[in-house]
Amino acid sequence: MSDYKFVDHTYDVVVVGAGGSGLRAALGAAQAGLKTACITKVFPTRSHTVAAQGGIAASLSNMGPDDWRWHMYDTVKGSDWLGDQDSIEYLCREAPKAVYELEHWGMPFSRNEDGKIYQRPFGGHTTEYGEGPPVQRTCAAADRTGHAMLHTLYGQCVKEETEFFIEYFALDLIMDEEGACRGVTAWKLDDGTLHRFRAQKTILATGGYGRAFFSCTSAHTCTGDGNAMTLRAGLPLQDMEFIQFHPTGIYGAGCLITEGARGEGGYLTNSEGERFMERYAPSAKDLASRDVVARAMTVEIREGRGVGEGKDHIHLHLEHLPPETLAERLPGISETAKIFSGVDVTKEPIPVLPTVHYNMGGIPTNYHGEVLTKKGGDPDSVVQGLMAVGEAACVSVHGANRLGSNSLIDLVVFGRAAGLRCGATLEAGASQPEIRDSQTDAHLARFDRIRNATGDQPVAKLRADMQKSMQENCAVFRTGEVLDEGVEKIAGIYGRVGGMDVKDRGLIWNTDLVEALEFDNLIAQAAVTVNSAANRTESRGAHAREDYADRDDTEWMKHTLAWVDDAGKVTIDYRPVHEYTMSNDIEYIKPKARVY
Ligand code: FUM
Repeated sequence: MSDYKFVDHTYDVVVVGAGGSGLRAALGAAQAGLKTACITKVFPTRSHTVAAQGGIAASLSNMGPDDWRWHMYDTVKGSDWLGDQDSIEYLCREAPKAVYELEHWGMPFSRNEDGKIYQRPFGGHTTEYGEGPPVQRTCAAADRTGHAMLHTLYGQCVKEETEFFIEYFALDLIMDEEGACRGVTAWKLDDGTLHRFRAQKTILATGGYGRAFFSCTSAHTCTGDGNAMTLRAGLPLQDMEFIQFHPTGIYGAGCLITEGARGEGGYLTNSEGERFMERYAPSAKDLASRDVVARAMTVEIREGRGVGEGKDHIHLHLEHLPPETLAERLPGISETAKIFSGVDVTKEPIPVLPTVHYNMGGIPTNYHGEVLTKKGGDPDSVVQGLMAVGEAACVSVHGANRLGSNSLIDLVVFGRAAGLRCGATLEAGASQPEIRDSQTDAHLARFDRIRNATGDQPVAKLRADMQKSMQENCAVFRTGEVLDEGVEKIAGIYGRVGGMDVKDRGLIWNTDLVEALEFDNLIAQAAVTVNSAANRTESRGAHAREDYADRDDTEWMKHTLAWVDDAGKVTIDYRPVHEYTMSNDIEYIKPKARVY
């Protein structure tokens, strides 16, 4: 490894990832007077948060009565009781504060007639603990809410002098002998140099891993690099079996058509022109929770009522809405529908299909953002020096199924919480132990092995095989047989990784190597996902087993923890769900049947 030299840096806090949660965490740490760096593989405002459309949930009551407790009830029910209720209370209580901060920093929200932040209906959000009518809780900047948020946060980070390391690809976590994280290594893509960032706290904000699947709404950058670094550090990922399919990805292209389209009055039909959601969710109909809508669409297609030549998709209608509403509230998806499906939304329906959209699972954390592992019988043992936020983290507020617009609020509430925690627990400029080469040699060995891989397996082929298998074997509906086949197929692909072929040996703008490193990250997550899914013999939220159709609270009211070794062997254990709230302001919400 002597050919490689590290450039060393020291910060109080290093954030990896510059999407909504990463920027919010970096901002909080910088505001607390801590020397803060943010490392990102793309320019911050190109992070995947930019693609978020419909909005951010918070009980502001701008469009009618609302209460954070109702938001909490809906989130617990949406999670199918797998969410940790102390964390869900934190999310819903803090949500209004986090949104007003964004407003005060200049985020250009749409406005209602009173000039307050406009809020739209979204699936699963109701009043009166699910007994009342749907609520307008989702704060929106037209259908470009993530774009507006990301630019607002980036501006604030620059103002607070967060130091950005842009187009740096994070490689691995620097762990010491006690199991504490001391920083992270990274490869600078434009000049090929390697870097070692030493920090009191390393915060992973690296997003989801949608690209493990063939059809997803996620950007090509969504390869879950932080999740994979966590696995390589010998730590578990949690609840990886829970994959959210967004009901309305554009058929063929996979691009997102926001749930806000149904929030503004859009509806779905089958080949008979029937508004079939009335049969599946008589009360919430098209605005039922996402897992419910995605399953209903899949059943319609399976039973021969899909639309189109292949009867393999569904129609989303917006053409009955006033053109002014489409222009003002849904301009982005009107354009996307035109470009990617050739549809003029004022005249004809959009062809849509459930598409992989979000990972409920990720790096286990508490509601401060501190990473947890199971150690010495303690299921909530804090990993020193390491935090995780955003889609990379599993706090767990989304449990088995996330409600739409609870993702953007998760980003800023827990990004903010992580910044506050750093401010409360760290001393600016405190001395840190030296990083020893022995702590980073394995990072270089992996990097060098992949860079010089000379096998006969092109990365594109390995990736395509993985994506196809995940799409087929870890789908909306699952059976033991199909999942076991997925376990075998992913293990087979894992076995071929040693034979990977990388052609470009350079270090400067080597996209061949970037793709190989990303694939290596994805395959580890694919393995824990499909193994965790095969292991969970019940149906809960987005994990719908046809051979175990019911939720089983006696056996399965627990989080899955999954580790993977170098050979791709997955080990599974569990953590209890937190069946308690954070305060006495609300009681634990007891499990019951989940109907919409
Ligand atoms: O449909 C959407 O706009 C997506 C929102 C979300 O995933 O929270």
